[in-house]
Amino acid sequence: MEKQIVERDLADWKAAEADAALIAAVEAGKVLYFPSLHFTIWPQEAALLRPELLAKGKRNISLDADGTLKGADASLAEQAELAGMIGRFRDGALALVHGLLPAYQPHLRIAPTSFRPAEVQGRAQSWRADDRRLHVDAFPSRPNRGERILRVFANINPMGQPRTWRVGEPFEDVARRYLPRAKPYSAWQAQCLKRLGITKSFRSEYDHLMLQLHDGMKGDADYQKNARQVTMPFAAGSAWVCFSDQTPHAVMSGQFMMEQTLHLPVEAQYNPSSSPLAILTRLAGHPLVP
Ligand code: SIN
Ligand code: FE
Repeated sequence: MEKQIVERDLADWKAAEADAALIAAVEAGKVLYFPSLHFTIWPQEAALLRPELLAKGKRNISLDADGTLKGADASLAEQAELAGMIGRFRDGALALVHGLLPAYQPHLRIAPTSFRPAEVQGRAQSWRADDRRLHVDAFPSRPNRGERILRVFANINPMGQPRTWRVGEPFEDVARRYLPRAKPYSAWQAQCLKRLGITKSFRSEYDHLMLQLHDGMKGDADYQKNARQVTMPFAAGSAWVCFSDQTPHAVMSGQFMMEQTLHLPVEAQYNPSSSPLAILTRLAGHPLVP
């Protein structure tokens, strides 16, 4: 399998420059890995790196675009520190993406920024919610009609522990494997899901197929074990970027990470024909979004 992780030497979040090879790589679903791109935690923030700050039942502490902090069980002073730290990561992540992928800039929709202080290993959850299984990101309640999910991650583990992922085969290979087994789409059922408030908007055939790929991969023990994949320990003090709706990924271990999600219309890509929407439409042979 062609290399699914492309490494670059970069030490400054604001110094990234557009490079045709990196642009093509990320749009082909590869992970861009920056081993020396370090997100600095200030000395007074070191005390924030503890999972006890998570509110009960939460996996992340997040900062909305409007500055609202969610998911923290912390004093007012700690909440202000958390907002500062997470906001600084957002600025860095945006500078990185603007530098690497300048054509995206006017089209990006910025999702909340998250801080993930919990240890991944040993987390109990249902198979469908288990991100330790290879998957592409697709969310049952949030249809996106093909809009892209671009994510920036930074491992901020203070003990030097890597965040270890498995990264799988190219998207088209996943699609060719699971499309023939996908349950048929029902627009009638999608209407019901919307009316009942189970989905926030109408689930298109694209969204249905993406969920079928997500569930198909996660529910397939043989695929999890035997699919082409690489294990990738992202070092403490590193950062990486990928389209998580396209790159099969699984997180195996690690603790303390920052994450920024950015949404992008397919048409704003350098090469829209490399998108999951284009690939699935080609394979299905008919339009997948109304
Ligand atoms: C995921 O997006 O599946 C999880 C990534 C991580 O927590 O490292
Ligand atoms: Fe994921």
